Amino acid sequence: MKDLLRTADLSRGDVELLLDTAADFAIKPFLANSALANRTVAIYMTKPSTRTRLASESAVAALGGTPIFIRGDDLQIGRGETIADTARIISGYASALIIRTFKQSDVDELGANSTIPVINGLTDDDHPTQLLADWVTIREAFGRDISGRKFTYVGDGNNMAHAWLTMGAIMGAHVVVATPGGAYAPEQSAVAAALAIAEKSGAKIEVLTDPQEAAKDASVLYTDVWMSMGDPEEQRATKLAALAPFAVTQELMQLTASDSIFMHCLPAHRGEEVAAEVIDGERSVIWREAFHRRTTIQAILYHLVRGELSGNTF
Ligand code: CP
Ligand code: NVA
Repeated sequence: MKDLLRTADLSRGDVELLLDTAADFAIKPFLANSALANRTVAIYMTKPSTRTRLASESAVAALGGTPIFIRGDDLQIGRGETIADTARIISGYASALIIRTFKQSDVDELGANSTIPVINGLTDDDHPTQLLADWVTIREAFGRDISGRKFTYVGDGNNMAHAWLTMGAIMGAHVVVATPGGAYAPEQSAVAAALAIAEKSGAKIEVLTDPQEAAKDASVLYTDVWMSMGDPEEQRATKLAALAPFAVTQELMQLTASDSIFMHCLPAHRGEEVAAEVIDGERSVIWREAFHRRTTIQAILYHLVRGELSGNTF
């Protein structure tokens, strides 16, 4: 496996390896501080980022390398240079490329035309590095045995919903996504891909439109912003009205399991997708989740650059 272009690229074994390495990097950040010595990692983002950018730059530094951050309009891509040519050029300087942008197909094209590992740092369709941080955090809360547990995401059927379904499928989990349906449902192709993995992993996938049913007895209640980067601003009022019943309130949390946790990839909008008393309450693990963005990106870089991930075998 050369690249991490989408969550579904990972095998169960890859995820296990990455989670274990991330747990090591959580305790000992400088355990492999010469893995990228004298090397650079390009981080190219055409959307804003707080966590992914800072976690990526910190991860590269902890591995002994130097990050090169490139903003969307810095490159000649904006003046017509092709993605393929750009990919070849970056491959000549850097040891890996982390890319955050809109279209998944642009990330795929960068991967296909690079000789270095390309890592998806979020697209409109997926957010694989986030899900690894989420699952290290889940493992810290519940251990390795997740049998009988239900992992629920409520809200918009966006990139996070897709990634939640896919990673849950890879982990063999009982994973639930509840959205208002229609325009806010997860993409059919993403659901189908998760179902295909679930058939082999033994995961149970449920796509619902009832937030209470989804929250009932869940071990994890996860949500994300209702307006994602790139969502048309003129749709805000309609979208927020449709999603209002999916807000994570104390009442919704009360339906979950007695040892449940609240998760959110952040940034959060208190009073919108989540009530302040939930996200700032005792069941919330958001700071640990955010902390693990660095440990997991460090693990991805470490193993991808060494060619130690096998790729999806589902
Ligand atoms: N969760 C996440 O990806 O955060 P940023 O958008 O700040 O990188
Ligand atoms: N769905 C959100 C995730 C942010 C980390 C977005 O794409 O903006």
